[in-house]
Amino acid sequence: MGCTVVVGAFWGDEGKGKIISYLALKDKIDVCVRTGSVNAAHTIIHKDKKYALHMVPSAFVNEQSRLLIGAGANVHVPQLFKEIEETGVKNRIGVDYQCSIIKEKHSQIDRESAHLKGIGTTGWGVGPAQEDRVKRVGKLARDIPELEPYLTDVALETNVAIDAGKNVLLEGTQGLMLSLFFGTYPYVTSRDTSASAICAEAGVGPTKVNRVVVVYKAFITRVGAGILPGELTKEEAIKRGWFETAAGTGRERRSAPFNFDLAKRAAMINGATEAAITKLDVVFPESKSARTFDELSSDAKEFVAKVEAATGVPVTIIGTGPAVFDIIDRR
Ligand code: IMP
Ligand code: MG
Repeated sequence: MGCTVVVGAFWGDEGKGKIISYLALKDKIDVCVRTGSVNAAHTIIHKDKKYALHMVPSAFVNEQSRLLIGAGANVHVPQLFKEIEETGVKNRIGVDYQCSIIKEKHSQIDRESAHLKGIGTTGWGVGPAQEDRVKRVGKLARDIPELEPYLTDVALETNVAIDAGKNVLLEGTQGLMLSLFFGTYPYVTSRDTSASAICAEAGVGPTKVNRVVVVYKAFITRVGAGILPGELTKEEAIKRGWFETAAGTGRERRSAPFNFDLAKRAAMINGATEAAITKLDVVFPESKSARTFDELSSDAKEFVAKVEAATGVPVTIIGTGPAVFDIIDRR
């Protein structure tokens, strides 16, 4: 199966964590590289326990998977250590020598800046840490003694694994509409979030990638400021069962119906070879826990067909509930 990139299509929180944890178990992912940073929380329900992971790769559910954090990522050391403890992955996680480091002062600037407050950042300090990296004054993982046992050359490990025919997954964070380049600037995060950027952060060249899975949620949510086409009132969101709060910060998420134009653009810029749709059961409750496409109602099937027609890519994986195996796998 080679190298797969999993990328979000909209404003994050599409359910990448769930899709990746499923692929980790189903496709026996050998190596999973997380990109981005601590601002993203990936939710995984594994063995009846719920995790909201900000640093540890979502493939941790497969005890055979090697877990890596790519050179392009920013590491928040206390959060990483907390999650290593929680997930018990001490002996199989590695951090690239050249990851940049988020310090308390970065979080402080993020929380206190009026400009960043206006954007509605998560307050973790990722933007200010990126600034220091660009100014070339920031610390790297290789400068931090506590990280010494975990340091590795992630690009080398990942490319060696791909060349040996192993199954490698590159874990994107956030979604295309939060990209510094392609998103709703200035209401975006501090990096490009597209599939190409995910590869760059991990150190994998474009010729090494076999599949790009773009993840859509069956409706759209957004936290923080900035436009959201078709935005519903909170009352309407609650009525439809679409009202969510953020896994990381607990903030209320705004919501809107699925947007086929944005979905098409996300498939294009990410070079998607296939798509996953999550939370189909939230929009079409009768599809709850379905494991085969035939079990879906005609409305739900029609929606999936419309996504395929708009984006030009096949919908291969469909989430029908929160647990890892609440999935329709059409591959
Ligand atoms: P920052 O990435 O913390 O600087 O926040 C910038 C914008 O991106 C804000 O609107 C955040 O709410 C949003 N954001 C950052 N990470 C995530 C995520 O993982 N999910 C959803 N929104 C995010
Ligand atoms: Mg999230």
